[in-house]
Amino acid sequence: MLLLIGTNNESNAGDSAPRKASCGDGPSTVNRPGAAVLHGQRLDGRWLATGPLRNRATRRLLNPCAGGLGRGLPGVDDGSLLGIEMTTLEPIKVLFVCLGNICRSPMAEAVFRSVVRDDGTADRFEIDSAGTSGYHEGEAPDARAQEVARRRGITLTGRSRPITDDDLERFDYVIVMDANNLRDVSALAERVNPDAEVHLLREFDPEAHGDLDVPDPYYGGEAGFEQVQDMIERSCVGLLEHIRSERTL
Ligand code: 4NP
Repeated sequence: MLLLIGTNNESNAGDSAPRKASCGDGPSTVNRPGAAVLHGQRLDGRWLATGPLRNRATRRLLNPCAGGLGRGLPGVDDGSLLGIEMTTLEPIKVLFVCLGNICRSPMAEAVFRSVVRDDGTADRFEIDSAGTSGYHEGEAPDARAQEVARRRGITLTGRSRPITDDDLERFDYVIVMDANNLRDVSALAERVNPDAEVHLLREFDPEAHGDLDVPDPYYGGEAGFEQVQDMIERSCVGLLEHIRSERTL
């Protein structure tokens, strides 16, 4: 279910024969020098716009139903696009939660942002973090967490905030760091939204070997933060795979 558009001036400069988009089940591409590139796949009579170049402006530009470019684009099989309903996908909302929201969850938030950016799907996501406590409300991420992340090319952002009832309603995935967080968040979910999807982050760590806690590094040394960063990086890759198995990206 991909619909991508971009310019194609370099990669096919010697290829003068346009190829038409098709409406089969597999991905299809319109590819012609100097023209826009369309890559699409139809699902249930709809084209779903996803991928790195998908945004609202692109969808409006292409939407043949709204008189957009898609209908007359050189090389595009107009018939295949007629009657297509362009679908706006809601962002997938992911919330990372730890105790203080100054170490593990801001690290996980920033790593997951980096993972989806590298994947080209950042604009499919809304990502945030929170704490089960308000101990550090308003504070920036811990300096040691910032330093470890910085050395890996990752910038931690945001200020600590406690998790709210609304978070349990709004976020599609609530990802907690340890068993204590799981207990606290599950109690909240039971009260406000028993259908909330709550996971331990290390459920998605291929090297967890049954130990599903991201340990609290706050009272330890820098080595603990490095270890936590490794766990979070492995787990965030696995988390994206999990979400991809459940959602259209
Ligand atoms: P975090 O680490 O839950 O990963 O943000 C902690 C930060 C502060 C405290 C405990 C854990 N504290 O007790 O203040």
